[in-house]
Amino acid sequence: MRLAAFLSLAVAAAAVNVSNSDPFEQWHGPKAGDVRGPCPFLNTFANHGFLPRTGKYITLDDLTNGLFNAVNFDANISAFLFDFAISTNPEPNSTWFSLDHLTRHNVLEHDASLSRVDAFHGHADIFNQEAFDETRSHWGDIVNVESGAAAIVARMKTCKSTNPQYSLSQLGEAFILGETAAFISILGDAEALTVEKTRVEYLFQNERLPTELGWKRPEAQFTTDILVRNLQAVAVEYQKRLNSTVLRKRGVDYAERLMD
Ligand code: HEM
Ligand code: MG
Repeated sequence: MRLAAFLSLAVAAAAVNVSNSDPFEQWHGPKAGDVRGPCPFLNTFANHGFLPRTGKYITLDDLTNGLFNAVNFDANISAFLFDFAISTNPEPNSTWFSLDHLTRHNVLEHDASLSRVDAFHGHADIFNQEAFDETRSHWGDIVNVESGAAAIVARMKTCKSTNPQYSLSQLGEAFILGETAAFISILGDAEALTVEKTRVEYLFQNERLPTELGWKRPEAQFTTDILVRNLQAVAVEYQKRLNSTVLRKRGVDYAERLMD
């Protein structure tokens, strides 16, 4: 009897171990000393262990493997993003970055974020519910390029009118468009350019992949070409909604040149 009970416990423990070894299920938030940054997706990948859980010393290999395993990015797009990422490491010619480096204002981090306040108002790296509530008030149950662009323009207008130091570089603008293209593509359908709003809310608010809402790692590889194509689709809708010439003079043209 005792042996049988022991064996059944051992079998149960093994089953638990099997499911626990799945990184999509292995989530925990940062521990003391770990760092996170302004990118909800990279924070999420660190929380699942797809990137170093410390959020520190992320190398090209770490990024390539992590983005492939988490969301099926090809190696070229990871290399492309890595070059941007290491530009935020204050140490010149570094071969790694940490997630908190990304917070350096106006290197990559920009004003008018979807879920963070402007650096002028406080912590541009930490999720901010009020900012995100404004963003998601522009999304329908399904987020697409139209409502994604509407949210971007609304956040720009709010930030411009409340932040006396508001600025947005051309690179910042290209990032804004790319970020919306990326979350739609990775959490939803990269061809139809639609995503369920609940999945996006879940990731931003929990910094966790929305597997419990039915999300799965995309089967199709995500490439720089797909990112550029989808960025341009967001940019077209974004340009339609700009009614200030200051905003209008930057936009899709620049985004296209940058990504060439
Ligand atoms: C935000 C960098 C990968 C989606 C950001 C920000 C940075 C950044 C610096 C802050 C911009 C700001 O809002 O001020 C990076 C780098 C990446 C990377 C260096 C890869 C090495 C990804 C991936 C996705 C993604 C793979 C999606 C699939 C987003 C989104 C935001 C963002 C949606 C906007 C957050 C907001 O506006 O509140 N990223 N990111 N990023 N990133 Fe990433
Ligand atoms: Mg920002």
